[in-house]
Amino acid sequence: MNLELAEHVVLVSGGAKGIGAGIARRLAVEGAIPVIIGRRESDNLAIVDQIVAQGGRAGSVVAELTDTEACQRAVIAAVEQFGRIDGLVNNAGINDGVSLEGGDTEQFLTSLRRNLVHYYDLARFALPWLRQSRGAIVNIGSKVAETGQGSTSAYAAANGGRNALTREWAIELGKYGIRVNAVIVAECWTPMYEHWLATQPDPLAKRHEIERRVPLEQRMTTCDEIADMVAFLLSIRSSHTTGQLIHVDGGYVHLDRAAT
Ligand SMILES: NC(=O)c1ccc[n+]([C@@H]2O[C@H](COP(=O)([O-])OP(=O)(O)OC[C@H]3O[C@@H](n4cnc5c(N)ncnc54)[C@H](O)[C@@H]3O)[C@@H](O)[C@H]2O)c1
Repeated sequence: MNLELAEHVVLVSGGAKGIGAGIARRLAVEGAIPVIIGRRESDNLAIVDQIVAQGGRAGSVVAELTDTEACQRAVIAAVEQFGRIDGLVNNAGINDGVSLEGGDTEQFLTSLRRNLVHYYDLARFALPWLRQSRGAIVNIGSKVAETGQGSTSAYAAANGGRNALTREWAIELGKYGIRVNAVIVAECWTPMYEHWLATQPDPLAKRHEIERRVPLEQRMTTCDEIADMVAFLLSIRSSHTTGQLIHVDGGYVHLDRAAT
């Protein structure tokens, strides 16, 4: 399938690690130009260098996304480098465990800034360019919005917000030919996941326990599997798909528990 993404400039927030890095690499293989927006230049450039070494093109913009002005500067910097924006992948975030019983309002609001507000900010600042290109937006989300997790109120709320914004923007931006979809992740092996697992008393046993709960093949989703769906949703091949929450999760959220 030819995704026809060649020369498409796509902003990827949190594109230096994990799911975002997988997306950036996949887009580059398709001939697109991912622009990695992340907080550390050395991390961004590590992925850019890998892509360039394989004959692709990519850009890097350093930004702390909890800062709205930094989001605006990031979009401007990307346009200065590449002259256009064809797609936005909102991906950066962290499951930071701000709970109802142990957290407070300031922590809750900080977590929303880490996980939700920059989705809105990047979309807002990129919108004039997406209108010109009739581009596409993909929001990465978490199963936690639908299943809960316990002890992570703010992250759950942020992910509920990501899902709601996907539907809301699909309607608001449909008149410009801009499609908006979400890819919902359950258990995907990334640095964030590894970091969390390391906090568990027996990380390997915990990993096996989690994997057993995934209906399809009792394993975690890979970043490449998420990236394949994102590339499809950014491409012309999904030209009549908008407002969808697509679960790339091995059946984790929707299939009967009996399947595990
Ligand atoms: N890994 C999973 O199983 C899983 C499950 C559900 C949802 N998700 C979602 O996927 C997204 C990516 O997760 P991941 O596991 O790849 O994470 P990760 O920590 O492995 O990578 C995220 C990258 O984003 C960057 N980043 C995060 N916040 C930032 C900020 N405020 N400013 C600039 N850069 C920032 C980090 O530095 C890192 O480079 C998150 O939004 C998360 O909610 C992941």
